[in-house]
Amino acid sequence: MKVLVTGGLGFIGSHVVVELQERGHEVVIVDDLSNSSIKVLDQIESITGVKPLFEKLDLRVKKDVQDFFSKHSDLNNVIHFAAFKAVGESVEKPLDYYENNLNSLIYVLQNLLNKESRFIFSSSCTVYGQADELPITENASVKPAESPYGNSKKVGEEIIRDICKVTPGLNAIALRYFNPIGSHATAKIGELPIGAPQNLVPFITQTAIGLRDQLSVFGDDYPTKDGTAIRDYIHVVDLAKAHVVALERLDAGKNETNLETFNIGTGTGSTVMEVIDTFEEVSGKSLNYKIVPRRAGDITAAYAQTDRANNILGWKAQSSLKEALESAWKWEQYVRSDVFGK
Ligand code: UD1
Repeated sequence: MKVLVTGGLGFIGSHVVVELQERGHEVVIVDDLSNSSIKVLDQIESITGVKPLFEKLDLRVKKDVQDFFSKHSDLNNVIHFAAFKAVGESVEKPLDYYENNLNSLIYVLQNLLNKESRFIFSSSCTVYGQADELPITENASVKPAESPYGNSKKVGEEIIRDICKVTPGLNAIALRYFNPIGSHATAKIGELPIGAPQNLVPFITQTAIGLRDQLSVFGDDYPTKDGTAIRDYIHVVDLAKAHVVALERLDAGKNETNLETFNIGTGTGSTVMEVIDTFEEVSGKSLNYKIVPRRAGDITAAYAQTDRANNILGWKAQSSLKEALESAWKWEQYVRSDVFGK
């Protein structure tokens, strides 16, 4: 297949590009480089031996998106990552988030309507909020979002649902990710947060390497075994493989409806303290952390029921938390000493 990956130089996108290429698919990347580095293109090539086609494109510019699809009229397989993703920033700048995350989605979809097409949407477990039951199934109710970022994922899914109802030629899968962490086994691509990381694992690795003084553990008074919050941390390479399986499912016409939704997680929840302990074990470093009050908007626990992904999609996470943290640590050491120079 020839596959367009929007946001293909970002954290998850770059890992998906590698997995697509390893399966023999041809990849075209568009990315506006607002939160990624062009060097990732060479890094991808050094892993797979193939440099994907790349075009710098701001998907908020409707005319540019139309021109791009006119030029690449054969493109009808799309994996759509291009979006802003910082929860806190989305609260400060809601219109920027809605403009980028929704307009880009709409403009890409508009160019897929007049052909048989396949579309994979990068959604999030954030759409469930604090679910009433754990593990979380795909049938759990979607809750009002806590942030404009979360709402952009929820509304994004709704837009795709509405357009799929009236567009039988469009076949889509929404993947609801739990917490992606880690990096490629080669440590040549990984997460490159701009400024202080908001997410737990990059904050841990940056603290361990000396870029941050101390990790704040947000709350130890949750009703969990050690009082810290529970999440389902999934290795980004496992997550990336789910996209390839999903696209191949659509290509083979195996989908039961023209919009399917799958949870993509490991099915295992880990507390913040378990993540810290496991990280200390794999890195041999003692982490400087302190307990601080809960972070606003955080939930107690989220982990996936993965039966649908396992049995219907035919995908299962393979890596343990330990392996994922090992890869995250390897990447942090690589990135501080090599090409990215930060
Ligand atoms: C966050 C977003 C979610 C988004 C996901 C992307 C919120 C409320 N949710 O998920 O919408 O899809 O990132 O990866 O922001 N923690 C600390 N100290 C830190 C950072 C985090 O203790 O410095 C804790 C958090 O309180 C949480 C856990 O670590 O319990 C994971 O946090 P994080 O990595 O930010 O992910 P989520 O909040 O689950």
